[in-house]
Amino acid sequence: MEPVLRQAPRRHSKLRLFVFKAAELAMRTLGGRRLYRSLNLAPGRFDLRLEKVNLPAEASDLDGLVIVQLSDIHAGPFLAAGDLGHVVDAVNALEPDLVVFTGDLISRVADEAWLVLDDLAQIRARYGFFAVFGNHDYRHRREAEIADAFGARGIRFLRNESVRPLGPDSALVLLGVEDLEEAKHLDVTEPRKRLRPGDFEVVLSHNPGGARALLSPATGLVLSGHTHARQVDLPVLRGLGPHHPGDRIDVDGVPAITTHGLGVIGIPFRVGATAEVVVIRLVAGEQVS
Ligand SMILES: [Fe+2]
Ligand SMILES: [Fe+2]
Repeated sequence: MEPVLRQAPRRHSKLRLFVFKAAELAMRTLGGRRLYRSLNLAPGRFDLRLEKVNLPAEASDLDGLVIVQLSDIHAGPFLAAGDLGHVVDAVNALEPDLVVFTGDLISRVADEAWLVLDDLAQIRARYGFFAVFGNHDYRHRREAEIADAFGARGIRFLRNESVRPLGPDSALVLLGVEDLEEAKHLDVTEPRKRLRPGDFEVVLSHNPGGARALLSPATGLVLSGHTHARQVDLPVLRGLGPHHPGDRIDVDGVPAITTHGLGVIGIPFRVGATAEVVVIRLVAGEQVS
């Protein structure tokens, strides 16, 4: 039997949604965007989290490959055009081999995606920039329009698709899965039909809750976002956001990295959940955990 991929969407009460929207409007009016940018997106205010991931012997020729992961930008009231400039500069300074975005581009409406397109299109990666959608990105079902526009600027959304970004003979496979809560269609079976023995598969899945069900024998790494590492990691507020499984956990022997992301939802604050860019180096010939 196929493992169940779909995750139950979190739904808020009307009262809670009203309170969220009122708080967001108030913070927006009081200059929340400027505050968020200065506290979280200025140089030295976001982390570059370094992670080493071990390669199996069959994929040792990928040694040294650098994958940079961005996530949860949530363009909209608290993050808009120009605000990612220092993040883009930091990513380009790393001269990454691959850049991946693990979903939640927008906050509430599809048009928010255009706010950050010019900034993201400045990112350079030797073998390309790939992305998946998060649960927010399906609002009004305009995600295909977003994928087309971003694709035209060099950012390719993988929608239940896999690619070999280093070329057809390389062992590195990137599999991008649609969001496990909101997508109409989920399928990892079809894209995996082209896997070969010795492949090293990196799975991009916005929601970390489905990591175990997403594994194949070729999977060597799962990259997710969605949780914002609780965004405001205080006891009374911790339960408002999705469960954060940990920055890096082991799922049946496979590392699963869940990034804190870069943006916010609802309020322009992060507490105990520093915005970050994750820098992953694939390494051969040693055991890392
Ligand atoms: Fe998010
Ligand atoms: Fe999300």
